[in-house]
Amino acid sequence: MVLTIKTDSPYQVVIENGVLDRVGKIAAKNKRPGAKAMVVSETNVFPLYGERLKTSLAAAGFEVFAFVFPAGEPSKQISTVCEIYRALAENGFTRSDFIVTLGGGVTGDMGGFAAATFLRGISFLQVPTTLLAQVDASVGGKTGVDLPFGKNLVGAFHQPMAVAADPQTLTTLSERYFRDGMGEVIKYACISDRDLFQKLESGTALENLEELTGRCVACKKTFVEEDTRDTGSRMILNFGHTFGHALEKLHGFQGISHGEAVGIGMILAAQAGERMGVTAPGTTEKLRGVLEKYRLPTEDGFSHEEIIRATALDKKTMGDTLNFILLEEIGKSRICPIPLEKLPSLLP
Ligand SMILES: NC(=O)c1ccc[n+]([C@@H]2O[C@H](COP(=O)([O-])OP(=O)(O)OC[C@H]3O[C@@H](n4cnc5c(N)ncnc54)[C@H](O)[C@@H]3O)[C@@H](O)[C@H]2O)c1
Ligand SMILES: [Zn+2]
Repeated sequence: MVLTIKTDSPYQVVIENGVLDRVGKIAAKNKRPGAKAMVVSETNVFPLYGERLKTSLAAAGFEVFAFVFPAGEPSKQISTVCEIYRALAENGFTRSDFIVTLGGGVTGDMGGFAAATFLRGISFLQVPTTLLAQVDASVGGKTGVDLPFGKNLVGAFHQPMAVAADPQTLTTLSERYFRDGMGEVIKYACISDRDLFQKLESGTALENLEELTGRCVACKKTFVEEDTRDTGSRMILNFGHTFGHALEKLHGFQGISHGEAVGIGMILAAQAGERMGVTAPGTTEKLRGVLEKYRLPTEDGFSHEEIIRATALDKKTMGDTLNFILLEEIGKSRICPIPLEKLPSLLP
């Protein structure tokens, strides 16, 4: 399946089993033979898929280099980006050359940020290998790194020249990270794909990962195209994330995964929506059923009061009003501005 994301510089997202071995051909649509390719990857993923990727790039006539960093979120920082710059500079990379990110969201965000900033911007191609990165992080052009005092505080919008998502790479992903990505998959179904929600309910959604990923990317595509710089309608993609971020913060970003926090956040948003009369009655229960089916939690030890307090401190609040994403029903969502002081009455 191939989807074209029509942003300022349009690009293709190719979602196909085995596409890992065709990355060279995809890159050759944009880059001349002889160009240099820096594979940016990490210590878990590179040993699994690095050689196949390098072989594919070399077969297409590129001069291939690799930079491999220690796997994990702690590496997603400026000092690692500096090491990537060094590898690029030492090997004489110019603006005709490019980066290929091979890994999860950490690799894509950081390799993309290096590409966005080296020589004021060189091309990059994303090869996402986690469910989260395939359905979410690799599409939309957001790149960046963490600072010691906050996540994703430095970054740039930089669209990749292409994304090559190979669902077969997910076979080596741990159950924990697969589940994490399912939080986002369920989110897409809730906000705009009722049919996908039904497939999740019936348990058939995982039979065809190409289709599953394709549906999620198609959903993200519509919002990204409407609002490339994330100033308006793209906010819908934050369904479940307002309370979700608050929960992650309360947990000190440890002990709860992003997908788990978003799952609980979606339940709270659905409950609030039902209380407000915006969300169809029974929606929360349907959502709870699907989250449980994919072994995601639906509640947490923190009280509503604590969650609301942490929400009020979240960066996405604009003054005293919160732009809240609510479902009208499964598959249909909207942005609802809610005054902060009203929150306690919505989550009693
Ligand atoms: N740019 C965006 O729009 C966007 C959106 C959502 C999340 N993110 C970012 O993405 C990051 C989280 O992404 P993630 O969950 O993919 O994290 P990750 O890159 O750390 O990958 C998760 C784990 O899975 C391992 N792994 C990856 N692919 C594998 C494979 N195929 N087989 C075996 N192991 C594999 C990794 O080594 C790591 O241990 C966060 O930093 C977040 O801020 C960015
Ligand atoms: Zn998310």
